Amino acid sequence: MYDITSIRCDFPVLSRKINGKRNTFLDSAASAQKPQQVIDKIVDIYSGRYANVHRGSYLLSEEITSEYEYARRIVQKFLNARSEQEIVFTRNATEAINLVASTWGKKFLTKIDEVLISEAEHHANLVTWQMLRDEIGFELKIFKINDDGSFDWEEYCKLLSGKTKLVAVTGMSNVLGTVFPLKEMICAAHQVGAKFLVDGCQYVVHHPTDVQDLDCDFLAFSGHKTYGPSGIGVLYGKQELLDAMPPYQFGGDMVNVVTYQTTTFDVPPARFEAGTPAMVQAIGLGSALEYMMDIGMNNIFKHEQDLTQYTRNRLSEIKGLIEVGTAHDKGGVFSFVVDGIHPQDLAFILDKEGVSVRVGHHCAAPLVRRMGYESLARASLGLYSNQEDIDSLILALQKAKTFF
Ligand code: ALA
Repeated sequence: MYDITSIRCDFPVLSRKINGKRNTFLDSAASAQKPQQVIDKIVDIYSGRYANVHRGSYLLSEEITSEYEYARRIVQKFLNARSEQEIVFTRNATEAINLVASTWGKKFLTKIDEVLISEAEHHANLVTWQMLRDEIGFELKIFKINDDGSFDWEEYCKLLSGKTKLVAVTGMSNVLGTVFPLKEMICAAHQVGAKFLVDGCQYVVHHPTDVQDLDCDFLAFSGHKTYGPSGIGVLYGKQELLDAMPPYQFGGDMVNVVTYQTTTFDVPPARFEAGTPAMVQAIGLGSALEYMMDIGMNNIFKHEQDLTQYTRNRLSEIKGLIEVGTAHDKGGVFSFVVDGIHPQDLAFILDKEGVSVRVGHHCAAPLVRRMGYESLARASLGLYSNQEDIDSLILALQKAKTFF
């Protein structure tokens, strides 16, 4: 039984009024709200248990070091990675993807190779590869999705070949909500000898994720979308790949022996965590992932799928509303336009009704243009979203229509 009332009570911000109205927060795809246990954990560390990690031989430092490494084990459990050594803490998912490009990419990609991405990528998983292409000279191929936003197996296979060295795709589009068939895509990529990176930012929030079962080579996600703090992200990489990668940045905590002339580097994940890490944020992330696992990722998935269906039914009641991205395999992300109302005006009116949605190109401008628009309004669900949120959205949309 999914106790949505009690879950909502865990998120203090949800009881705050927005412009004097009920707080209808429908922008969790941009950044999710935080449960009390994450807030408490952060306050607890800063109030009485704060010191640097991996550096001190005193109680406070030992305590926080063990909390930081415990958080790594929680991430390992959340992703079902083989080992905690496969979990690298980064600043966010963008940095995790950049890390792979700057280390694995620079070492293993050459100008005769191809990197394959989809039309549905966030800028983080598009611009990063464009920049590396400009440096190395490989070909960046982009496979098409269907007009409804769904995955097209033929288009994918058409561009996948023995030349493909890396496939880098989102698990779930932050604009269309489309969920890609990762397991089959990864299997096909491996058959041609390509490595596979999943931009898991939206995917891992809404689905049980098992990197061993998926068999992906890399997976990146952000802490702030998984109900944890901002400033923390995760790169999962298969051990043998991380072992073969050079460092990303240089500094303290990632070295073995340093002399004035030369330096040797530590093994992963320390090799990729130069400098004082975002340790409080990592610990906060661990607490957020525990919170999600306590509810159960299957339960979250089921709740959100039911609410996705409810939302789509209710949105279809609004005359002149076009939902952009209607794939069958879709999670709780709804981009739309309403005839005769600019998305920016729409978002402004919704905000006055206490309804928070994102508007614009959602850091995926080529995708929004490919769907035929310059700007879209987007409502997105979190594990605390309920039917009342959707009913408030529908009422606010109906009200907006009366102004135009
Ligand atoms: N990538 C985030 C979004 O989709 C910020 O809104």
